[in-house]
Parts: sequence; C-alpha cells; structure tokens
Amino acid sequence: MNILSPSILAADCARLGEEISLVEAAGAEYLHIDVMDGMFVPSLSFGMCVVSSLRKVTDMVFDVHLMVEEPIRYAADFAKSGADIITVHLEACSDVEETLDWIHSLGRKAGISIKPSTPILAVEKYLDKIDLLLVMTVEPGFGGQKYIPASTARIREARQLIDARQAHVDIEVDGGITRDNVQVVLDAGANIIVAGSAIFNGNIAENVKNMMEILAPG
Ligand code: DX5
Ligand code: ZN
Repeated sequence: MNILSPSILAADCARLGEEISLVEAAGAEYLHIDVMDGMFVPSLSFGMCVVSSLRKVTDMVFDVHLMVEEPIRYAADFAKSGADIITVHLEACSDVEETLDWIHSLGRKAGISIKPSTPILAVEKYLDKIDLLLVMTVEPGFGGQKYIPASTARIREARQLIDARQAHVDIEVDGGITRDNVQVVLDAGANIIVAGSAIFNGNIAENVKNMMEILAPG
C-alpha cells in the first residue's frame, strides 16, 4: 500500500492547523515534518513546539525528518512531542546503530535518510534495524527543488536490496515529487511519497486528491 506524506515545509505557517485538516480530510495518512538545524543543512525550520502543538489537532502519523547533526540529542524530545516515525540522516550520526536503538527504545519507528551522493549500499548493514529508508531525491535543505533524475536508479537499487534481504522496510522518497513523476518513483519501488510544493501550492484538497488517485488507483 502506498502512503502520501505531505511536507508542511511548503504550508502556510499562519494557517498550519487548517491546511493540515485539509490534507487529512482529503486522505493523506502521514504528515512529513522537516526539522533543520542550520548545521547539517543551511536552513532552519520547525522544532518540538510545533510538533506538540500539531499533535493536539490531528491523529495523522507524524513522519519527522531530522536534518540535524547528531540527532540522537533530540530523539527523546521529538518522541515526547508526538513524533511517530523519527528519521535521521546516516551522514549526521557518529553512531548510527546507537541512534536507531535509542529511537526504538522510545517506542517510535526509526528511519535512515541518505543524501543523493551517499551510496545505497551504505545502509545495508542497518536494514534489520530500520522501519524506513528515506532516499532523498534532492539535496536536503530546501523545498521546491527539482527531482534529480539519477534518483530513479537509486530507488530501484534500494528496492532490490531490501527485497533480496526480505527486510520489512518502507522506501520513502522526498524532494521534487509531483503528479508528473510520482508514477516513476512508485514503479522504481518507493511506497511512501513526500510532497511539499505539489500539495500546498494551489488547491490543497484537489492536489491531495489528484496525487492519491495515482497512489491508490480505484
Ligand atoms: C527538503 C525536505 C523536503 C521538502 C520537499 O530538504 O526534506 O521534505 O519539503 O519539498 P518539495 O516537495 O517541494 O520538493
Ligand atoms: Zn523531508
């Protein structure tokens, strides 16, 4: 089953609650929350307080993407604030295994994310420790970028690796996903689709509906 995870980085922050109600009512199951520290990526975004405030207004699955150096420092805070899935960057952890174990010990799902330049094989040894692999399809840090075409082969490689290991790991894609290229990433093996601009620019309910039709035809 495919899942849509709208990224609130592209939402209107003054109307966050309303815009989330719209994506939820239109059928999105996850909510993608990008956390940036100004170190791992140049920009800053949301912190724990946004997550805990949003937790009071929706039951959607909170898919928290930590673009933060040494994310182990914040995992407990985000778990407490209401994150359901905590994804960390492989490139940002000095001890990946310890970080994943810590997230699981908090009772949350754990994901690893990799930048476009990190080999897929780098995650191989963690496959039995993760619930989700987030393959970045743009350089992390900003919304509204263009999908990197070489990502398609990377998603396919990740799918083959996961299937060969019979691992129960979702493949999430993030960055530049639109109605026009979502079928390509689904065909390559992704099953959780993050989309920011393609959902929050324009008519939100229509955008979700159109995307859901591709994700769950019929
Ligand atoms: C980028 C973020 C993405 C971003 C995607 O670093 O991780 O989640 O919001 O935005 P779009 O869909 O606009 O590329
Ligand atoms: Zn993200």
